[in-house]
Amino acid sequence: MKTIETVGEMTELAKAWRKEGKQVGLVPTMGYLHQGHLSLAKAAKLDCDIVVMSIFVNPTQFGPNEDYEAYPRDLSHDQALAESVGVDYLFAPQPNDMYPKGYSTFVNVEGVTDHLCGAKRPGHFRGVATVVSKLFHIVQPEKAYFGQKDGQQVAVLRRMVRDLNMPVEIIARPIVREGDGVALSSRNVYLTDQQRQQAVVLSQGLAQARELFIQGERDSEALKKVVTDVIGSASLAKIDYVELVDGDTMASIDRITGKAMLAVAVYFGNTRLIDNLILEVESESCFCS
Ligand code: PAF
Repeated sequence: MKTIETVGEMTELAKAWRKEGKQVGLVPTMGYLHQGHLSLAKAAKLDCDIVVMSIFVNPTQFGPNEDYEAYPRDLSHDQALAESVGVDYLFAPQPNDMYPKGYSTFVNVEGVTDHLCGAKRPGHFRGVATVVSKLFHIVQPEKAYFGQKDGQQVAVLRRMVRDLNMPVEIIARPIVREGDGVALSSRNVYLTDQQRQQAVVLSQGLAQARELFIQGERDSEALKKVVTDVIGSASLAKIDYVELVDGDTMASIDRITGKAMLAVAVYFGNTRLIDNLILEVESESCFCS
């Protein structure tokens, strides 16, 4: 595996691969890799000739009072993990190479960013869409892999590639969880032991909602109530939102009639955790993941 540290070198490599007709898969990350990221790289390895993983803690997607400086970083550990799953190139640029002096172009995806994390973290998805479109231009992948844990991010990026005719297929992979159900996240490292124990309420609440859904419940208030009650049982949890939204537009819905996402964001101290569940009704059958 080779680590590429400049935008210039990455651009030249990508141009050469394109000429050779190689199919490139990109796994964008902010590093501090865990099994969730590695599952994306493994999927890319099965589909593509060349797998590029980017590691870039993107300053434009953090709000002024968020954890940009504190975000965990460990490049040498990430290099070992990425290599262990067959990543071919690690792209780890510097902030001033991605955003040189005078940088002033941003990608703003409207509508789908008005809800959930988009409403709670103003500017977050503008930063995500901007950096991901830059990565797509630099690496020129056919396919790009993202975790379903960031369900709204997937919806935003799907909208972006459709609207801007980007020739990239967005592939969303299932949430990877710890044994007790907590979704893997680089931010879990911020949790105290007690917070980490209680963090299980997010997935437990969603699991109870899934049971209700399987039994036939389609009403938003009923599904949200069970999640809210379970999360509310944890003394250290502070709910940011529990919402049932349309699976594509991310707008709130009252009942599930097609593809929906039940999404939660919860603070433990200053650490904000998110999780979600896809619930889908197709004529007589129902699906959840
Ligand atoms: O999901 C993430 O880690 C980031 O939002 C991404 C997609 C790498 C963009 O910085």
